[in-house]
Amino acid sequence: MTYQIDFEPVGRRGNYPASQSLLEIARQLGVDLISICGGEGTCGRCKVKGLNGKASPITSAEREVFTPHELREGYRLACQTFPGSDIKVYVPPKSLSTPQRTQVEGLEIHARPNPLVYTYKIQSLPPSLSDPRADAARLLETLNQQYGLDCYSIDFSVLRDLSPNLRAWNWRARVSLRGGELVALSPQSSCQLGLAVDLGTTKVAGYLLDLQSGRTLASKGIMNPQIAYGEDVIGRIARTRESLADAKRMQELAVEALNQLAAELCAEVNAIPQEIVEAVVVGNTAMHHLLLRLPVQQLARAPYVPAVSDALDVKARDVGLDIAAGAYVHLLPNIAGFVGSDHVAMLLATEAWKAKEVVLALDIGTNTEIALVSKGEIASVSCASGPAFEGAHIKHGMRAAAGAIEHLRLVDDRLQYHTIAGTPPVGFCGSGILDTLAQLYLNGVLDKNGRMGEHARARTYEGQREFILISEEERDGAPAITITQHDVRQLQLAKGAIRTGIQALLQAKGHAEEEIKQVIIAGAFGSYIDVSSAVTIGMLPSLPLNRFRQVGNAAGTGARLALVSRNKRAEAQKIARRVRYIELASLPDFQRLFVQAMYLG
Ligand code: FES
Repeated sequence: MTYQIDFEPVGRRGNYPASQSLLEIARQLGVDLISICGGEGTCGRCKVKGLNGKASPITSAEREVFTPHELREGYRLACQTFPGSDIKVYVPPKSLSTPQRTQVEGLEIHARPNPLVYTYKIQSLPPSLSDPRADAARLLETLNQQYGLDCYSIDFSVLRDLSPNLRAWNWRARVSLRGGELVALSPQSSCQLGLAVDLGTTKVAGYLLDLQSGRTLASKGIMNPQIAYGEDVIGRIARTRESLADAKRMQELAVEALNQLAAELCAEVNAIPQEIVEAVVVGNTAMHHLLLRLPVQQLARAPYVPAVSDALDVKARDVGLDIAAGAYVHLLPNIAGFVGSDHVAMLLATEAWKAKEVVLALDIGTNTEIALVSKGEIASVSCASGPAFEGAHIKHGMRAAAGAIEHLRLVDDRLQYHTIAGTPPVGFCGSGILDTLAQLYLNGVLDKNGRMGEHARARTYEGQREFILISEEERDGAPAITITQHDVRQLQLAKGAIRTGIQALLQAKGHAEEEIKQVIIAGAFGSYIDVSSAVTIGMLPSLPLNRFRQVGNAAGTGARLALVSRNKRAEAQKIARRVRYIELASLPDFQRLFVQAMYLG
């Protein structure tokens, strides 16, 4: 028995059995419902509204998430709901993981191009009865003679098409060499392109570069489609334990995303992905392992070790990447289970690792990696800051999409705010959430402990204190946008985790806060925040604002540098060897630091 399930307003429909939840059906129809908990019923993000039809009974998980009023209105959690008839389902914008602002901008790259792959134009004589050498030997000998090289091997996939290609191109070709191996053969008119990717838990940033000049030709960000399997790495690792099929699908999704990026970036410059002769990928250790289909279970269990931490060079085709036939993907080294090659790339791009003075560098995300550089040493920690600053677990939190309040001020009880794309507010994203917390603290609505006091805009609603940002009247009868006491607690946990990491590093290296000469903030969230709000709530140390530097996607910049310069690759190895990883949970002082870091101000 199947039922027709119709998702509106996205307009996707199909017939499915009653045994599949609406979340599973949505996934199959390509409706990107947010599912942070991976369908456990605990994150409350996969909200949908039944417009008509019958469904399975309301579960206790749903009673916890929805108010009685919302339940009467037909709101359900997609992961908890199974169809009992044909159903039309409304998907609110906040439940969709796209569209989202994906941030690819980073620092300019300044490195003399010195790529691992070089191309050479060759022209050889065609074979004849007096010169019947094999095509491959003819090609290599011509190349070695013409350029004084010592190339001795040809990638097998290149070899397969070599004879017809050389004839089709009239014995003129462009040859790409990586060390002593011929990895690509193309027409003389083709380009020599490279692909750099920052494979994040939430977003994937891709850059197309001309390997010879080192110029970035195009860049683009897309959502990581693995997000349907959980928004943080722990959720995704758990899914791989439960289902081998899910593990395989997650790898396929990552590769599909990379291939999509490669195709779209090439299309922008009238090229084709087969002109990409080298790729570099950076990411956190879990993303790195999932992409390579390496085991990930041990990452989530103490002592949280990676399967491999050295830099790797693997054939792109072995990963599933559809670029030049014999091209390689280079993966920068990881440091620990929760400090990946994106951290190495960030340190490489910002040059923080070379600093003579005390420098703090953070890449804020669902997982925040922090490095403290001092006296030529680098100490790093990883903090589970969680997705609260990305809007998850926050009642009216949302991703950085149209209608999200991104900046907010409370002046004389009046709110001033700005939304992304200038559209009417529907919720608030990370930077708006941070501003809200800071403004409520500065205006005395929240005390040091985060307790919400009295204010004209504060109320108790359904047993919980909340502060009204946009009232029902201001929204023409739609539910008010509020920040609740529970939200404040979640945010204190997130900011507490980050500050604990900073304090632990300072303590480990014997430095006082004031000694930090520069704070480098990397990452999408970090580039949009108002630093003074982060300082006000105590997430970042109280230092003069001119010591803070927001650098955008530094991991992506690091990946680009490693793509165009073999010297930068060597530097990345040096950084990875120099970083001393500190496991926060193992510090005897951890609990005390964390409790202190939870205070506002
Ligand atoms: S509550 Fe449904 S996916 Fe988390």
